[in-house]
Amino acid sequence: MSSDNKFELLEENCRLAELGGGEDRIVKQHNAGRKTARERIVDLLDPNTFVEIDKFVTHRSTDFDMDKQKFLGDGVVSGYGKIDGRLMYVFAQDFTVFGGSLSRANADKIVKIMDLAMKMGAPVIGLNDSGGARIQEGVESLGGYADIFYRNVMSSGVVPQISAILGPCAGGAVYSPAITDFIMMVKNTSYMFVTGPDVIKTVTHEEVTKEDLGGAMTHNSKSGVAHLMAENDEQAMMMLRELMSFLPSNNMEDPPVKVCTDNQYREEEDLDTIVPDDPNKPYDMHDIITRVIDDRNFFEIQPYYAKNIIIGFARLNGKPVGIVANQPAILAGVLDIDSSIKAARFVRFCDAFNIPLITFEDVPGFLPGTVQEFGGIIKHGAKLLYAFAEATVPKITVITRKAYGGAYDVMSSKHIGADINYAFPTAEIAVMGPEGAVNIIYKNKLSDEQRKEAIDDYRKTFASPYKAAALGYIDEIILPRQTRLKLIQALEMTRTKSKSNPAKKHGNIPL
Ligand code: HXC
Repeated sequence: MSSDNKFELLEENCRLAELGGGEDRIVKQHNAGRKTARERIVDLLDPNTFVEIDKFVTHRSTDFDMDKQKFLGDGVVSGYGKIDGRLMYVFAQDFTVFGGSLSRANADKIVKIMDLAMKMGAPVIGLNDSGGARIQEGVESLGGYADIFYRNVMSSGVVPQISAILGPCAGGAVYSPAITDFIMMVKNTSYMFVTGPDVIKTVTHEEVTKEDLGGAMTHNSKSGVAHLMAENDEQAMMMLRELMSFLPSNNMEDPPVKVCTDNQYREEEDLDTIVPDDPNKPYDMHDIITRVIDDRNFFEIQPYYAKNIIIGFARLNGKPVGIVANQPAILAGVLDIDSSIKAARFVRFCDAFNIPLITFEDVPGFLPGTVQEFGGIIKHGAKLLYAFAEATVPKITVITRKAYGGAYDVMSSKHIGADINYAFPTAEIAVMGPEGAVNIIYKNKLSDEQRKEAIDDYRKTFASPYKAAALGYIDEIILPRQTRLKLIQALEMTRTKSKSNPAKKHGNIPL
């Protein structure tokens, strides 16, 4: 063969590989409202930065006439490229080839880029769209999954791992995304479940649609399995690009700083009136967060789940921060099982990747009730306490109103290692609310008039930030309008923080 022919052969093979399962299946994929693996990669990465690896890998199976059905690449496109000029590793399952199912060869491709990512210290983004284990291969496919799971665990806390679910993701295949740091789903075209509607009907006689069981909204609002939701594939890729802009490439780096064009001394007078005088009146904590951060740009994580707590990324003077905030507009901002778990995982992510934590606190305590107690609020609430306490990144807290009971301790209090604790003049730092306190202290011994007086008295004595400030539990009582400036100062001051926990194999977080 002449070298011209050899070059033509290479071009032809590339063309074949890039065609995946063929034109008809690509049309089918588009008709289902989904993009192909390659189109998704193009949307995700900076233009012309994708470098493919293992383009000509094929499966090695011979059962079920599989030796007669080979596709170059074998159902997954993998390689590396850039987002905002930074190195990222990517794999995208190609549904047009055997439904994107995972063969041994296909798993080896994923494993290869996961290993490269660990060596190079760069994130891994997995675009999932797969019918699960390659049925024709049996246990080899299961072995492939386990090889990936193992690497997911070893990479956890070392490089960020992100999953987008852009089609089916069922059976044990869900566990790789579940171990990764963030899961993105797309409305109406993606679903995740351990067992599908048919199996459920046989076993429990429940009837449920695929969408209700494991669609994007279900996992974003009910189960808390997913963290982000997009309208379509394109928006999903844009959101992933934005997410990556807040994250460092690995646990040894600081998150990327952006040039800040927002005035760092900006005072927002509105902030002085957002917290209502009436302690029982709700307000939206987003109104405080957005006024304080750079350019009002808040990248919220899990905005539809456990809405009584808010988590997400933002920047202060260009530097990424993780925000955890009670939300008094939902369930009075109470801590319950779901909100504790939601915030705890986020706190641990930020701590693993050197992202300072800013906590906005207005919390009346833990949610009472048998549902919570039987559900294990004790161990789940302890997760958040544990996560905040073990976090060694800079921790800055702003108490806007209520900081009651155990929740005061949990929400990044001075006692569990916060570096700077601010309070608004409206803050009430006490064992519990004045009504509850008076009911317990005086039981039924007071007339209505006396009871009112005792409540007022308790409020004056304890429901303020001054007792805590007198003890040094609060470093400074600040004017709400100066919150941005104060947080930027505290972040600047804590920039060189160096703190490590005692050496150990690992702690034993209450799971
Ligand atoms: C091999 C598969 C496949 C699989 C789909 N295909 N899933 N090939 N192994 N797991 C192929 C189909 O044969 C078809 O090939 C093409 O992919 C598209 O599939 P369709 O069924 O036509 O597409 P659609 O109607 O969109 O349905 C998608 C689907 C369905 C819901 C994913 O294909 C399905 O139910 N597949 C089986 C899912 C499953 O049970 N997987 C194993 C789960 S157990 P052609 O040639 O016609 O294009 C598991 C264990 C993992 O994953 C354990 C890890 C620990």
